[in-house]
Amino acid sequence: MYKIEVDKVGVSYDEGNKRFTALSDISFTVEPGQFISIIGSSGCGKSTLLSVLGGLRMPSSGKVIIDGAPVTGPGKNRGTVFQHYSLFPWMSARNNVAFGIKHSTIKLPRKEIGNRADRFLEKVGLENFKDKYPGQLSGGMKQRVAIARALAMDTEILLMDEPFGAVDAKNRTLLQELLLKLWEGNGDDIIFPFDLTNNEPIAQPVRERKTVVFVTHDIDEAILMSDRIIMFTNSPGRISKELEVPFKRPRSRAALVQTAEYTRLRNELLTLFYKDFGSDI
Ligand SMILES: Nc1ncnc2c1ncn2[C@@H]1O[C@H](COP(=O)(O)OP(=O)(O)OP(=O)(O)O)[C@@H](O)[C@H]1O
Ligand SMILES: [Mg+2]
Repeated sequence: MYKIEVDKVGVSYDEGNKRFTALSDISFTVEPGQFISIIGSSGCGKSTLLSVLGGLRMPSSGKVIIDGAPVTGPGKNRGTVFQHYSLFPWMSARNNVAFGIKHSTIKLPRKEIGNRADRFLEKVGLENFKDKYPGQLSGGMKQRVAIARALAMDTEILLMDEPFGAVDAKNRTLLQELLLKLWEGNGDDIIFPFDLTNNEPIAQPVRERKTVVFVTHDIDEAILMSDRIIMFTNSPGRISKELEVPFKRPRSRAALVQTAEYTRLRNELLTLFYKDFGSDI
């Protein structure tokens, strides 16, 4: 069974007495544990699609099926990193992450929730900023808190909308590696069901890979991270191409960029991207 099935999804927005079509006839499937990236230029409907996958917006036509059931609203099996990070301004970084954990399927005693929030903030390099409020953090830091929150919730599906867009190059590289490590199930402490009667972690189960839908503007990032790349055309957004990324994992950036296959794939994506501009470029 597919983890995610997007079936002829269209989204129109009402604008006074007009209707604007943001997405048209989008169909694709995602296997359990697959990492797919969506790329396309600004305004082509990537965030709109993610909000439909998250159950925050119902499509105007078509449907999304997750684990065999139509999506009718948000669910605890999906964690989202929004493009504009969406933190609660009245909560510290730690409490923002802890809030996510409390509302996930992870059952932990209160103290462990705080510890888990701390550990994930450390993973994204914010060990000295746990008690700060969003208003006291830079854009890139806020984005890292949102990433820590989504990762700490350990959902089966991760929906990530340009999660590293506001992060500097060094942290971006570190976060890409962290995400891949957690996705591959190598996170040292991703989940451990807790026996709440004696506060003991239960033996760690064999983990399944997360299913990730990852929006990015960055072609190199998409190739590095994904199993498959879906390219959107300009508004109304439609799928122009689906490409398999054939490289074995774990991938080494340095080795990858030297292969002829990498250059070929990158050129193919760039050519598609430029086509959208028309004949001028
Ligand atoms: N709530 C809304 N009401 C009306 N139009 C909207 C709404 N949200 C998005 N749109 C329009 O839908 C189109 C797609 O927007 P969306 O945010 O999905 O694009 P995007 O691909 O995520 O762009 P970016 O790369 O800039 O984030 C845009 O033209 C936008 O103006
Ligand atoms: Mg967007």
